[in-house]
Amino acid sequence: MYLDKDDEKILAGEQGETRQKMLALLVALGKVFGAEQLVPIKSAQVSGASYKTIGEYGLQWLSSLDAKAVVPAVLNPIGMPRGRWEEMGVDPDFAAKQNAVVAAYERLGVTLECTCTPYYLYQTGFGDHLAWSESSAVSYVNSVIGARTNREGGPGALAAALIGKTPCYGLHLAENRNPAVVVDVARPSRKMGIAEYGALGYYAGKLVGNRIPYFRGIRPDRDQLKALGAAMAATGAVALYHVEGVTPETVKSPFATAGLETISVEAAEIERVFTDIPVDAVAVGCPHCSPEELSRVSQLLAGKHVRKPFYVFVSQGVIDANRQKVDTIEKSGARVYADTCMVVSPVMSRYKAIMVNSGKALAYVPDMCGAVARIGTIENCVDVATA
Ligand code: F3S
Repeated sequence: MYLDKDDEKILAGEQGETRQKMLALLVALGKVFGAEQLVPIKSAQVSGASYKTIGEYGLQWLSSLDAKAVVPAVLNPIGMPRGRWEEMGVDPDFAAKQNAVVAAYERLGVTLECTCTPYYLYQTGFGDHLAWSESSAVSYVNSVIGARTNREGGPGALAAALIGKTPCYGLHLAENRNPAVVVDVARPSRKMGIAEYGALGYYAGKLVGNRIPYFRGIRPDRDQLKALGAAMAATGAVALYHVEGVTPETVKSPFATAGLETISVEAAEIERVFTDIPVDAVAVGCPHCSPEELSRVSQLLAGKHVRKPFYVFVSQGVIDANRQKVDTIEKSGARVYADTCMVVSPVMSRYKAIMVNSGKALAYVPDMCGAVARIGTIENCVDVATA
């Protein structure tokens, strides 16, 4: 793999052991995947931030590193809201470990925003190369923005943040971004909103697996695209998808789809994802809410009182820019938490059944929280919580 003179110096250990090891990791990854060179990145998003997932060994490894990020880098959601963990009922021993993980990343120059929606915080543009980790964030920037990232593992994303480059293979290359399967969506029986696109993604992800799908017959907006991609990343392994006439790569230079396998999704298949089971908590914000989603929750909860625990997950940056809406939501008794989510927080395992408005959460809550999950629209979620 081609390395420039600066890279050679780093690899020779001239800039310290951590940068040497991190570049060696990127070179090894590049060789495995056939990369011919490294590509400079605009930003990194690093998974492996929740103590629930990395445990003691992960914490020790992070604490042993000594270098600084050279590009903007944020963390994936962690196991608790940093400023409000006691109120959320997080165990103090867990909180101490989680704070140690966060402190280790801070020492490495990673910004302490813990979110799966860094695209609300950083200007990210068409064709930008990135090293992001979290599956829904990867899906969104690749598909909706047209930036280029593989789904990095935590160490690979951290290494890219510390070096400022990532191996150029996979979705960094235009020839690997062509669709592999067409998904025709029949006219749905209900109005397609965020939850319906989540349900479509939940169903379609199982059919397409890790192939790049090309959707026809739908016109989702950005929040609906976010829901569709997040769910397909969870039930399949979709890191890039296209929607005809909607996502930027289909608009800039249309793909040839003749001869590709075509899958049809009928309205009844989306409908079947919706159930009516009783729940003991409601959680929205998977992926973390956009400003528009936060506004909608605030409108729906204004002047009401929730009778079930109601969680709204969102990045700190979006909270800071929307204080009034957050206050309106919290007056209802619902809680708006940054840094964490219904899947990575250990607190959520106290519930038996959780209602969500996300296809990704529908897929992950049973395994990660041990609870049954039900999907509904945001209006259904508010009705169930306030009834
Ligand atoms: Fe984000 Fe957690 Fe969902 S990381 S995509 S809110 S599972």
